[in-house]
Amino acid sequence: MSDITALVASTSETLARIAAEFSPAVFASSLAAEDMVLTDLILKAGLPIGIFSLETGRLHPETLAVLDQVKATYGYDVTLYKPQEAAVENYVARNGLNAFYDSVEMRRECCRIRKVEPLGRALAGNKAWVTGQRRAQSTTRAELDVQENDPAHGMTKFNPLADWSEEDVWNYIRANQVPYNALHDQGFPSIGCAPCTRAVQPGEDVRAGRWWWENPDSKECGLHMVDGKLIRIKSVAA
Ligand code: ADX
Ligand code: SF4
Repeated sequence: MSDITALVASTSETLARIAAEFSPAVFASSLAAEDMVLTDLILKAGLPIGIFSLETGRLHPETLAVLDQVKATYGYDVTLYKPQEAAVENYVARNGLNAFYDSVEMRRECCRIRKVEPLGRALAGNKAWVTGQRRAQSTTRAELDVQENDPAHGMTKFNPLADWSEEDVWNYIRANQVPYNALHDQGFPSIGCAPCTRAVQPGEDVRAGRWWWENPDSKECGLHMVDGKLIRIKSVAA
């Protein structure tokens, strides 16, 4: 088990440095467990890092309910970015509402319209952005650094929880009574859009329920590009 006190101290230090040296900076919250840890650390410290969420139009009601939980706990309104209506209508009219099950290309196009394009608007004008990604989450995140260059968005990107384990996340949430998405108690360790997320069995990989019909190495939505590429896999890079 990691030393949670040391992890929290170094994560708080990173967040304070982002606020001091990379202003304006924003935090992208999916409203899942990791992002609630960062929300708690940012809001309790009163750091000037704006929190936004990409409201794709396909989120679970339990995920949307977290917005109210954040408001009730911290008195904070998370800023929402939604996809462009015309792009969604066009995609649905051409391909159907759930075409993402048909191919990786169709899935990435849906993610592009509902997440990646709105992310570009959310990040515009900032010096840095913050995510809740962890190294242990997936093969695609095995080489994640706390601080990285994000050429796709022309700014610095921070992953302050890169070193945290899933257990660290839950230890922090319980110790600090941080509000969290009710789906986590129903077998959902990782939560994205409703049609693309399902519960996992005990012992299964934490992201096994995300885009479960795809190969593990393609399971990224395009929010997190590295050197213009979608994935970073240790075995391939070595
Ligand atoms: S995803 O890329 O596969 O969807 P994941 O759900 O693991 O990502 O989340 C990783 C990080 O991406 C989150 O901690 C958060 O910073 C960002 N992120 C993912 N989904 C959203 C969203 N809907 N709104 C804002 N940020 C998001
Ligand atoms: Fe579309 Fe699924 Fe991507 Fe959400 S996760 S944007 S529903 S393909």
